Amino acid sequence: MTLIVIGFLIVLSHASMGSIKVAENYWTLKSNELVVVEDMTKYGSKVLVPLVCGEAFEGQNIIWKTVSGEKLQVQGNRILVMVEERQGGTYTCYSTEGNYLNHTLVLVQWPYRKIIKGTPEHGYIHCAANNYSGFFQCFWTWDETRAGKIAQIKVTRSHSVGNISCSLDSSANSITCQDHEYCPYAEELDHINLTIYFRSNYVIEAYFLPFQISDIVRPDMVRIRKKNNTLELQYPESWSTPFSYFPLTFQVKEIRCRKKADCDCSNHRSLKVNLTQEQQWPLKKGVMVCVRAQDDLCNSSWSKWNKYK
Ligand SMILES: *[C@@H]1O[C@H](CO)[C@@H](O)[C@H](O)[C@H]1NC(C)=O
Ligand SMILES: *[C@@H]1O[C@H](CO)[C@@H](O)[C@H](O)[C@H]1NC(C)=O
Ligand SMILES: *[C@@H]1O[C@H](CO)[C@@H](O)[C@H](O)[C@H]1NC(C)=O
Ligand SMILES: *[C@@H]1O[C@H](CO)[C@@H](O)[C@H](O)[C@H]1NC(C)=O
Ligand SMILES: *[C@@H]1O[C@H](CO)[C@@H](O)[C@H](O)[C@H]1NC(C)=O
Ligand SMILES: *[C@@H]1O[C@H](CO)[C@@H](O)[C@H](O)[C@H]1NC(C)=O
Ligand SMILES: *[C@@H]1O[C@H](CO)[C@@H](O)[C@H](O)[C@H]1NC(C)=O
Repeated sequence: MTLIVIGFLIVLSHASMGSIKVAENYWTLKSNELVVVEDMTKYGSKVLVPLVCGEAFEGQNIIWKTVSGEKLQVQGNRILVMVEERQGGTYTCYSTEGNYLNHTLVLVQWPYRKIIKGTPEHGYIHCAANNYSGFFQCFWTWDETRAGKIAQIKVTRSHSVGNISCSLDSSANSITCQDHEYCPYAEELDHINLTIYFRSNYVIEAYFLPFQISDIVRPDMVRIRKKNNTLELQYPESWSTPFSYFPLTFQVKEIRCRKKADCDCSNHRSLKVNLTQEQQWPLKKGVMVCVRAQDDLCNSSWSKWNKYK
């Protein structure tokens, strides 16, 4: 009985092996790191991945082993390995004498969004710039259960390679980038194409964000100074100069708050807000003044609220 079952299984696995397709879409992350772009609808949960030990070993008898030291049945310089359920791994090739020759780490790029948190509606990565100098930062939130890390950052201008550099911040959940060729005084015609590749185990997720600095600009907090009976609303120190060329619009709310909970500027949504470019605001008795700013020329994000009490 047992024999019959085994025989049946062998036939079955052989038959299914014949229908497994060879993956068509790959890219190289680093030397010796191959990323297979998964397409479950096309291949199903199993896919064959071609590996090469090295051009120099063509025609030689090559032995392959997995990271656990298990020897593969297939031999030769060019082989196909089966990746099942996105179980990538490292494959090492040896000469018949057992000398190490080369290795390839196989990773799988899937279409899911699991390594960082977010939703399609609210996005996953949020970029912001506090002025028009070409500096910008992008933030995300790791999923604690995934042990994610950055695998690669690709950043170009949409019509040219440009010269944009990015580095991971010490907090490990944001990057700071600088577009070295950014000109704040010219109209921004092309986009920045940012792709961040995250890795968790053998899985890669790619996040693509095209944007312009003017889309993501968000001034720092407005500074408020009291002068006699007026408040002076000052441009943030980090904002681009000259201010006449980079005007801000202020939103001002006056709140009468007695309890602490009432003194939060982001509450009181229904309250009347004044829009002004004036930097003077008449101070009234007994009111708290909330102020925030937005680039006057673009409909980008408002700054955080600042308040005077
Ligand atoms: C090892 O493999 C890498 C990536 O497949 C390849 O670029 C490199 O030339 C190989 N090294 C040798 C010695 O063949
Ligand atoms: C930037 O992304 C757009 C798609 O949004 C694409 O058409 C364009 O070719 C990309 N540019 C570069 C330089 O990769
Ligand atoms: C990019 O800009 C930096 C800073 O201005 C400069 O040092 C570097 O040489 C530039 N790189 C290229 C490729 O132009
Ligand atoms: C504001 O007060 C200062 C003294 O604190 C006074 O010298 C100045 O004239 C006042 N300015 C106005 C516009 O009232
Ligand atoms: C623009 O913002 C960057 C990053 O915060 C800062 O380093 C730079 O000094 C700012 N530029 C100006 C003109 O303040
Ligand atoms: C604020 O707006 C209201 C009308 O919406 C107006 O009556 C009032 O004068 C404005 N306050 C200031 C200081 O501009
Ligand atoms: C500005 O953006 C907000 C939120 O994205 C949107 O609701 C509003 O209609 C926009 N206003 C203009 C004038 O485009």
